[in-house]
Amino acid sequence: MDGVLPWDWYRDPRMLEVEERRLFRPSWQYIGPLQCVSQPGDQMVGRISRAPVVVVRGGDGALRGFLNVCRHRGSLVAQADGNAPRLRCPYHAWTYGLDGTLRSAPQCGPEIEAELPALGLLPVRVATFGPFVFASAAGPAGAPGAPPLGAVLGDLAEVIAGVGLDLDGLRRRQRFGYTVAANWKIGVENYLECYHCPVAHPGFSAVMEVGPGGYQLTASPHRLSHRAPVRHGSAFAAGSVTAGSYHLLLPNVKININPGRQNLSIGPVYPDGVGGTVGFLDYYFGADADEAWIEQMMAFDTEVGIQDAALVAAAQAGVAGGWIDRGRILPQERLLAEFQRYVHAACVDEAPPGPGRDEAVWPGTDEGLWGHGRGTAPGPR
Ligand code: FES
Ligand SMILES: [Fe+2]
Repeated sequence: MDGVLPWDWYRDPRMLEVEERRLFRPSWQYIGPLQCVSQPGDQMVGRISRAPVVVVRGGDGALRGFLNVCRHRGSLVAQADGNAPRLRCPYHAWTYGLDGTLRSAPQCGPEIEAELPALGLLPVRVATFGPFVFASAAGPAGAPGAPPLGAVLGDLAEVIAGVGLDLDGLRRRQRFGYTVAANWKIGVENYLECYHCPVAHPGFSAVMEVGPGGYQLTASPHRLSHRAPVRHGSAFAAGSVTAGSYHLLLPNVKININPGRQNLSIGPVYPDGVGGTVGFLDYYFGADADEAWIEQMMAFDTEVGIQDAALVAAAQAGVAGGWIDRGRILPQERLLAEFQRYVHAACVDEAPPGPGRDEAVWPGTDEGLWGHGRGTAPGPR
């Protein structure tokens, strides 16, 4: 089938604003480990796409999230993870309680004093899944486009338990940040298919059954998942986790479980300009994962990551050049089609005129500059 998204959406910087509003802001984003906000006063910084957020454990034991932006002149309030009885902005010392209320603003007169109650940190939604903390800038639960985290996860807890992973036994070991020279959607699409695995990932394919017979793809309303059986006798065949299990929480949070010992990595990808992606993965391990095994798994994971980075950079270089209007999608790439449908449905109302919009196909003429008529764009046929 034809790709649902026109390649204009991968090279037009105007799409970044649309995606920010329509995809990232209402979504649930992984922030970090619950273990970092276990004690009253604990503060953990993160972001929901571009918006900096801070998650705080209150004196009352409640977990709250706020936009980490001072109501005075916009400085980040919390600069790093830590613990403090309040949130004090480093710029002019406006000071907020752990519940987000503005408690003091030095040298301010009666006029601002009267405004203090209205100048608290703006709340964001916070929810947990096992040892993970998520935040969302969407409106209250039940608002359109703002499903609760549980609805986004669906049956993920059962799926994870089904491959033998005990979520509650995991502890974070390290955060690995990365950048990729491709539009974030090209990176996500690469993540959603294993059609390229036999070609581009010989190491991965030696461990997993990557052929159509064993490899499973599952689409849920908010989650796209792979299940990869492990090859008998391969490097990761022994251990408590019995299969590879890889998930995208739409639009951009990856959860990876490799077979072998107790392990999981989780993290978002975000646009870094129209032709770049920035992301991180938090690596978690359970008690049965010793140093030697962790080293082996990290080498395995890193090799796949380096191979994928080269693949998507090459795809971006082709897509960015213009000329061809869209790609093709094979049945074994159907999760990619689901992703494109999701992005299209969320963004089409605000997308710039072009092949992705019904009402305007190509700027300048109803028929398209090259006379192919509505729904097409210039390109070889
Ligand atoms: S910007 Fe925070 S106190 Fe001025
Ligand atoms: Fe890959």
